[in-house]
Amino acid sequence: MPLEEYDDCWLRYDRIDEGDRPASHRRYCQHAYVSDGAPELGAVRDELRRGIGGLLGREPHLWHHPPRTVDGFLAIGTPDEMAVVRDIVAVETVESLADGGYCMRTGRWNGADCLVVTAPTDRGLVYGTFHLLRLLATGRPIDDLDVIEEPATADRLIDHWDNPFRKSVERGYAGQSIFDWELLPELRPRYEDYARLLASVGINGVVVNNVNTQLPPRESANPAHDELEGWRLLETRSLEKLTSLAGLFRRYGIRTLLSVNFAAPMRIGELDTADPLDPEVEAWWKRKADELYERVPDFGGFLVKADSEGQPGPYEYDRDHVDGANVLARALEPHGGRVWWRAFVYGSHEDRAVQAAETFAPLDGEFHDNVTVQIKNGPIDFQPREPVSTLFGAMPETNVGCELQITQEYTGQGVHCCYHVPMWKEILEFDVDGEGTAVTDVLGDEGEGIAGVGAVGDDYNWTGHYLSQANLYGFGRLAWNPDLDAETITEEWVRLTFGTEPAVVETVSDILMASWEATIKYTTGGLGLMHMMDNGSEFLENHYDPSPEEWPGYHGATADGIGVDRTSAGSGYAPQFRDPVAERYESVDTCPEELLLFFHHLPWEHELEDGTTVVQRLYDNCFEGVETVRELRADWASLEGEIDHERYRHTMERFDEHVEHAAIWRDTLVSFFYEHSGIPDERGRVPRAN
Ligand code: GCU
Repeated sequence: MPLEEYDDCWLRYDRIDEGDRPASHRRYCQHAYVSDGAPELGAVRDELRRGIGGLLGREPHLWHHPPRTVDGFLAIGTPDEMAVVRDIVAVETVESLADGGYCMRTGRWNGADCLVVTAPTDRGLVYGTFHLLRLLATGRPIDDLDVIEEPATADRLIDHWDNPFRKSVERGYAGQSIFDWELLPELRPRYEDYARLLASVGINGVVVNNVNTQLPPRESANPAHDELEGWRLLETRSLEKLTSLAGLFRRYGIRTLLSVNFAAPMRIGELDTADPLDPEVEAWWKRKADELYERVPDFGGFLVKADSEGQPGPYEYDRDHVDGANVLARALEPHGGRVWWRAFVYGSHEDRAVQAAETFAPLDGEFHDNVTVQIKNGPIDFQPREPVSTLFGAMPETNVGCELQITQEYTGQGVHCCYHVPMWKEILEFDVDGEGTAVTDVLGDEGEGIAGVGAVGDDYNWTGHYLSQANLYGFGRLAWNPDLDAETITEEWVRLTFGTEPAVVETVSDILMASWEATIKYTTGGLGLMHMMDNGSEFLENHYDPSPEEWPGYHGATADGIGVDRTSAGSGYAPQFRDPVAERYESVDTCPEELLLFFHHLPWEHELEDGTTVVQRLYDNCFEGVETVRELRADWASLEGEIDHERYRHTMERFDEHVEHAAIWRDTLVSFFYEHSGIPDERGRVPRAN
């Protein structure tokens, strides 16, 4: 086994000095009575050893029965396994919780202080243990606890865009895939630490491979590439590898899922069709599902990208997405598996924004119960700011899932500091019907959930940029509880990651909280323009540099104005929302400024509410965005000596590059605005044409 080194992220468990931590930590945590049996309990015991051992400087004494001779102890188990648990928390309270939910309560038992962590399922015990360790690591007292937690949504998934065998990660900015399919079924220690990181924030499913399971046609000309494709994971010879990985994740309450290729019956099986209505195709998928579940009984299901960007799908057989998703669903249904069917389709409309809802909304109510239609947060593609997808309000009879992007494809990749949590809050809180139904309310039923496109690779720090670890942490915390404030999540992450020194906590939190708005400003001008990024020379190297001339359809810049008319007189995206939301976007007067040019094509000199013209606001925002990044860099510089040198230096170098690159963005965008409008910057910052 090669020696592996990598960062502990937010599970550092650095020792806290006796004087700096509440006395309750030692009182309750030196002795732990943990039930055994399920694999998850093994994970709980290991984590207590690591966590309490690190934070208190002494591993807890682990018991298989309640200790009688001590003053205080921790008891972790389900109510049916432990009398002490039943005495301190009412069984009905525990049993009423959803899978993953847990209770933590302090009480007295047999003359001793006792802290109980209990749950209806073993997975909940894992989450409760991590919650307790989070309290210890952030220095909170634990002598008066009465906590009841339940996840807001049933499925909280990470979608890896990892290409097995060749180990690359699509839109990955942190090195190669952490999954080594050549080496599997042998397990790397890093898998376990990854599972710990995910479980500590409540993630309960991992899709291990890329939604692109075959290369886009233009590249697949080289037959050698076929050896490298994700569709092969469904082959019988790969299942042993999957079984091993799934067993490890299971210990942490995480189910394993696969992205599958719609044409698998042809590529892997011997069939000459993948027509979803062909009985042989149906039988093939059933056999494959049976084979999978025999090895991985808790297998989570399939994620499918069909008829999108060159991936095969039901259209080839004149079938629709319902036919395609349901044939897979019927195969998984007897085993409790689920199909996550992506709604990311475009290409046949001039404005791609309108296509997903036009395609999927008419299919509402026709998908099987174990199908979830997975919708990207916005109608374009993870842009720095987009309106919310209209589909969230358009499929009331369908299980829907929301797909967010943790990796920073369009927000500075592994170089810029851009914290996505405030963006995700905006999306998840969006009122889809104008009557207070938030996106998160739409995601609340069994079979619904949130998926985040993964961000980790095998770099030392997992995410390329140390501060991007906060995006992974924040994704999990928000998926668990979307009502948490961005500030709360941020402070928690900083305290766990950089320690509890108030100046450090405040500085790092402020940097994170300011970073997204800054990114929006210098990459778009802040009024809702889309896709000002380059297409790059190589497929995977794009979306980093500015190149607004390349995609005129997305921003609609002409000599007379800028923006895209997506009202009912234009491409028709605004009217896909329900009233009164649709009306708000439809009118220039009520459309929020930050999305104005997404919905409207306006003259350059159109006056905004405060009298500033559109073009002047675009200039100002671009300059402001870069100014903010400079300030963030200076704030980071103020931490020298306050945090360890390695993380300080690495992040400082990223900030140096960030400032430079943001200035390139600004200069490119403002010149572009000037060239099209011919209107000079009132403040004289934009060079004029000779
Ligand atoms: C974007 C992204 C691709 C990805 C695709 C998807 O187009 O750039 O890398 O494959 O979205 O979400 O399927």
